[in-house]
Amino acid sequence: MYDGPFPLSTIPAVNVATVPQRSPLRYPGGKTWLIPHIREWLGRTSSHPLLVEPFAGGGIVSLTAVMEHRVERALMIDLDRDVAAFWRAALCHGPDLAARVQRFTPTRDRIEDLARQAPRDVTEHGFRTLVLNRARRGGVLAPGAALTKNGENGNGVASRWYPGTLRKRLAAISACAERITFCEADGVRLLEDVALHRSDACFFIDPPYTAGGKRAGSRLYAHNAVDHVKLFALMASSRADFMMTYDCSEEIVSLVRAHDFHAAVVMMKNSHHARMPELVITRDRMFT
Ligand SMILES: C[S@@+](CC[C@H](N)C(=O)[O-])C[C@H]1O[C@@H](n2cnc3c(N)ncnc32)[C@H](O)[C@@H]1O
Repeated sequence: MYDGPFPLSTIPAVNVATVPQRSPLRYPGGKTWLIPHIREWLGRTSSHPLLVEPFAGGGIVSLTAVMEHRVERALMIDLDRDVAAFWRAALCHGPDLAARVQRFTPTRDRIEDLARQAPRDVTEHGFRTLVLNRARRGGVLAPGAALTKNGENGNGVASRWYPGTLRKRLAAISACAERITFCEADGVRLLEDVALHRSDACFFIDPPYTAGGKRAGSRLYAHNAVDHVKLFALMASSRADFMMTYDCSEEIVSLVRAHDFHAAVVMMKNSHHARMPELVITRDRMFT
């Protein structure tokens, strides 16, 4: 029996296999399971042609919104330079990146070589990010992440390397690349300086989960120090239409209440199959 601080969402978490997988990255903390909420939210906010995603990571939300024509354009922001290189390569050099995917046969030695070499250009850098993301345990890119040992069906480091699928996803991204802008920047700064002043934008905000001393965010991402209090205050002081996701820590529950925001709980299965509450936070009541 659920007995948490906020009501359960009327939309349950979906099995991610039922949602189109559009990102070539298998991103830790990726929000594919949240896509039905995103569709519902954007359906109600269709007057905003621009979606801003200040902690974009694997970008599933921006890709879905643009490819399903739920917004005209997306602005993706991430501070991680490896992630940034991947998005620049995918958006500006998609065919070249796809050709590299086609040619590559992953072995432990080749992947370790790739990880050691300094990339010569943005496509090589983006390719390195993609390979490491697909070969490391849990897709973790943060320093110190280890390569997968056994992988699926004992295929080891190659077990998540599906060249045909990756090329199709890259081709779909190239086809809508003119409608997506990527910016390597601090998402909080960018919100503060520019984005929140735009009346044509709505905001999907999915920061690393580090509030209240939680450690998941710091293990998964190279950049993980986010001022959550400031982020909430920024959203409260603007009139922006937003949706945020967070884990259900005491600090976040207090911030939601302090700013009179609304939250709905989605029960998510974590990697150990335990059900954990995740919060979907909006300015107005939406999913309860
Ligand atoms: C929870 S993940 C986002 C996952 C994404 N929603 C998805 O579905 O793949 C958080 C992301 O925030 C990025 N990040 C951390 N601090 C940041 C900052 N100050 N500005 C921009 N991005 C940041 C991390 O690199 C990471 O990619």
